[in-house]
Amino acid sequence: MLRRMKKASEPGDGAAAPPPGAAPKAHAPRRSTRVIAVTSGKGGVGKTNIAANLAYHLSRMGKRTLVLDADMGLANIDVILGLAPKYNLYHVLRGEKALSDVIVQGPGGMKILPATSGIPEMAELSRGEKLALLDELDGLGSELDFMLIDTAAGIAGNVIYFNVAAREIIVVASPEPTSITDAYALIKVLYSQHGEKRFMLLANMVKNSGEAREVFLKVSNATSHFLNLSIEFIGHVPEDTRVTEAVRRQKALAEAYPDAAASRCIETIARKLCKRQPETGEAGSLKFFWKSIVEKTCG
Ligand SMILES: Nc1ncnc2c1ncn2[C@@H]1O[C@H](COP(=O)(O)OP(=O)(O)O)[C@@H](O)[C@H]1O
Ligand SMILES: [Mg+2]
Repeated sequence: MLRRMKKASEPGDGAAAPPPGAAPKAHAPRRSTRVIAVTSGKGGVGKTNIAANLAYHLSRMGKRTLVLDADMGLANIDVILGLAPKYNLYHVLRGEKALSDVIVQGPGGMKILPATSGIPEMAELSRGEKLALLDELDGLGSELDFMLIDTAAGIAGNVIYFNVAAREIIVVASPEPTSITDAYALIKVLYSQHGEKRFMLLANMVKNSGEAREVFLKVSNATSHFLNLSIEFIGHVPEDTRVTEAVRRQKALAEAYPDAAASRCIETIARKLCKRQPETGEAGSLKFFWKSIVEKTCG
């Protein structure tokens, strides 16, 4: 049984309540948070590393960035960055922790919300609990420019929900044939069953930009031919032993090896993302994102 959500401002958290009769705080105009899913058809293609390092570069560029860890895998973002979060979204749903207690600070100023073990429980919330949770999650919006979602691979329920709820989708693919066919399969499901039309392809673990182009063309030729859908190329990251070394050292790549080729390429992609025109309207907002996630049955 899930309990009422604990708010950061509840007694015991040290936050002072406003005096009775105080005028409501004037809210600064809210900028919308760009919610970007980092996803793939096949596992092990580099989603977690890309999400972590994109977040690192975006944060260093002054963009307030949070990574939502929504992958049940073992190599979670906190592990590759050497962080050890004690709590996750599950504790928020249990009413044991406020969201602010669960979010951890990562390198470069990025934030991480460990969420995996809380997501299935969201389905069990009552309507009132869902609204309270939405309220709290939406509060994050004023503090963030970007939210990146490190999803699991494939086309199982949770992955689809996260991709549908995020308005920008980066599909990571490597040159392996199965990675390419699975990237196409994921795009096909998201397009034909959920009406998603905007996809960015990121080619990871490639030898050079020529091979990256080949990966992109294989996926985009298939989407054009079979779905009549154009996709965008957002960039590539070369196969680079420094990536694995940084994982071993549990450090962000750019922190451990700022001059590594892979780090520079991820920085270029971060800049490209900043320039990209985000979608506007409710569908692009953080509130829409959480509402979709909380309302869907996440099994
Ligand atoms: N560009 C790269 N060059 C070399 N190794 C990489 C690169 N990207 C990812 N890897 C390695 O591939 C493995 C899988 O990466 P990971 O980010 O955990 O994938 P996913 O999250 O898609 O399962 C890890 O061992 C990681 O170090
Ligand atoms: Mg992963």
